[in-house]
Amino acid sequence: MTRPNHESGTDAFERFNKAQGVGTVRDPYTRWAELRRMGPVLEVDPREWTGDQQFMSGGQEAPEGFKIWSAVSYDAVHDILADSSNFTSSGYAMTMGPVLGRTILEMDPPEHTVHRKLLSQAFSRRALESWETGLVAETINGLIEGFAERGSADLVRELTFPFPVTVIAGMMGVPADRLGDFHRLAVELVSVTIDYDGALRASKSLRDLFADLLQARRAEPGDDIISVLASAEVEGEGLEDELIYSFLRLLAPAGAETTYRSSSNLLCGLLNNPDQLELLRANRDLLPHAIEEGVRWESPLTGIMRMTTADVTVQGVKIPAGAVVHVNMAAANRDPARFEDPDRFDVTRKFKQHMGFAFGTHACLGIHLARMETRVLLNAVLDRLPGLALDPSAGEIFVSGQVFRAPSALPVVFETGRES
Ligand code: HEM
Repeated sequence: MTRPNHESGTDAFERFNKAQGVGTVRDPYTRWAELRRMGPVLEVDPREWTGDQQFMSGGQEAPEGFKIWSAVSYDAVHDILADSSNFTSSGYAMTMGPVLGRTILEMDPPEHTVHRKLLSQAFSRRALESWETGLVAETINGLIEGFAERGSADLVRELTFPFPVTVIAGMMGVPADRLGDFHRLAVELVSVTIDYDGALRASKSLRDLFADLLQARRAEPGDDIISVLASAEVEGEGLEDELIYSFLRLLAPAGAETTYRSSSNLLCGLLNNPDQLELLRANRDLLPHAIEEGVRWESPLTGIMRMTTADVTVQGVKIPAGAVVHVNMAAANRDPARFEDPDRFDVTRKFKQHMGFAFGTHACLGIHLARMETRVLLNAVLDRLPGLALDPSAGEIFVSGQVFRAPSALPVVFETGRES
């Protein structure tokens, strides 16, 4: 397999991570627990959610005195995400719309229902089976071969970071020589709160790339996502080209950044708890539990936004119509009323619905892909890196970040010349 150059993506990504507080904001949970003790939903300063990051698109600061509502208990987060008639997602049209275009993220039912049905054709479990044994397995093996003989690696830079973006690009049919550009553009796109003009430029460049690919697939369909989207139909209706570009733009960061973070967070939990790593090595049936536990324990995306369409009461708290609501999924996932000893990372924890992939109408569309990629990655790490442990000469390794969370690096050592 050709090993793509991700350096330009890495640079953009380091800037993005820094702005998100990766490496600095280590523990937002103590504050969120404090808020939860005050009530399930509270009116807060927007910085409670964003840290120092700018709140609105266009690089604007939130206006002085501007408040948002923040849901921090499991039940409140659940109830809000289950109620798409009182809580609209349309606010994303203002924040993400200028760079993504019109996507399902900002649509409400019934428009959302129709589009989601069309788009899910590319992400059904069946569609994913063929990717798993081909593209996904080849990508992970190719990356591991890059460092397997060395006996040491940074698993973020060399594995978890390049892996999902290579997969999503392969699923779209992006040529290998455009992969570095694709990754950089995907990062610049989500950096909208840091560099608005750069995000707009990235949006246009991605559109041009997708337009070329769509034209080529129309002429000669393949088994990639773009070919599926080009011919997807519900009740005789297909997708307009601009909607295809917007959806592909959404998939670039959605498919790459969240999974990079979730698999890094899971590895961070395992490497810091070698007993848990051993449990998993001894019993691979625990893999699905470990994957969910990783997303629950350290949710890669901590919060999402909704707006109220009417006065509404959530868990006894009245929220007025037109309010901006921060839905704190990471706080929900650490709610002791829902999860026993919630701060503990435990791969044997029995499966219980968590909010890391959201819930309800907009629950993550890529959930099967994310789980499958993480399973393939973990199996390969367990099979091919015996004696895996954190590099004892590295300092403390931890997950950090305010809105997006991940460890900055995962320096590890392992035995060479022997596979488990
Ligand atoms: C562990 C990895 C992932 C996590 C934690 C995650 C999390 C989420 C969350 C929280 C949402 C809800 C956003 C909102 O309503 O505001 C979402 C939506 C979405 N995700 Fe994921 N995601 C992951 C991986 C993926 C992957 C791999 C893809 C596809 C390649 C993907 C595609 C999407 C799409 C298209 C939506 C929009 C769904 C809709 O609006 O109906 N995600 N994801």
